[in-house]
Amino acid sequence: MRLLETHGLSVQFGGLRAVDAVDLALDAGEILSLIGPNGAGKTTLFNLVSGFLKPSAGTARYQEREITGLPPYEIAALGLVRTFQKTNIFSEIPVRDGVATGFHLKRDAGIAGILLHTRRAKAEQAAVERWTAEILAFTGLTPWAHQLGKNLPYGKQRILEVAVALAASPRLLLLDEPASGLNPTETNDLMALIRRIRDEKQITVLLIEHNMRLVVGISDRVVVLNHGKKIADGPPGVVSKDQTVVEAYLGRGFAAEAAAHA
Ligand SMILES: Nc1ncnc2c1ncn2[C@@H]1O[C@H](COP(=O)(O)OP(=O)(O)OP(=O)(O)O)[C@@H](O)[C@H]1O
Ligand SMILES: [Mg+2]
Repeated sequence: MRLLETHGLSVQFGGLRAVDAVDLALDAGEILSLIGPNGAGKTTLFNLVSGFLKPSAGTARYQEREITGLPPYEIAALGLVRTFQKTNIFSEIPVRDGVATGFHLKRDAGIAGILLHTRRAKAEQAAVERWTAEILAFTGLTPWAHQLGKNLPYGKQRILEVAVALAASPRLLLLDEPASGLNPTETNDLMALIRRIRDEKQITVLLIEHNMRLVVGISDRVVVLNHGKKIADGPPGVVSKDQTVVEAYLGRGFAAEAAAHA
């Protein structure tokens, strides 16, 4: 089933076409990586799809429904949930409470959620606690539940961002450079977690990443952006040999990782 589809999606900042007529299709169950040089428009594409930016042209459909121009909370409530490239918003609160905010992101979005929240506050509280405990266990954060976010090892802080997004019950999860700053062991843990998110929770994953070992290790398909345009789309082993990609992305070790993995 087609989960996400964009047609001619574009946005301009002054004279800069940050995202330029991008067609993207994502099927349920895929792990798709979006790669490209710094400034290629990857995060901007996430902003367009998740409602944080309005496109100047083009459309985005999610679960066969047009979502172009919907506000972020409505899109999140439909099950399209994203993380942010750089954030420390969970550093001053206990891990458990950070994860609980993810739950509310989805629940409080509609009027039904608000009513439920006031009328059945107790039942709601119990549901939040159960759900939070489940997400903490799934992501391996249970031992840190009562710690402030900033007291977690760096690798666990990045996992916490994923856990908060998971708590919102996504059907499609958008991760913006989840492995940035991670050491090889932490990267392996993250890779295993992303696989389990897809395999055990049946959540489709769209991932922005510069770490080619992670990209080649888990992606079913890779899309390459350069200067806002899509320049390649296919399995990692094919895209890594594409001459245009090699030129745009030289030095990133993409081809070497793909060869090592083949
Ligand atoms: N709100 C904005 N206003 C003006 N220009 C912007 C804005 N957001 C992004 N840009 C510009 O759009 C281009 C694409 O930026 P974007 O953040 O999407 O790149 P990226 O591919 O995510 O890069 P990186 O790998 O460094 O995160 C860049 O030239 C950036 O400076
Ligand atoms: Mg970015």
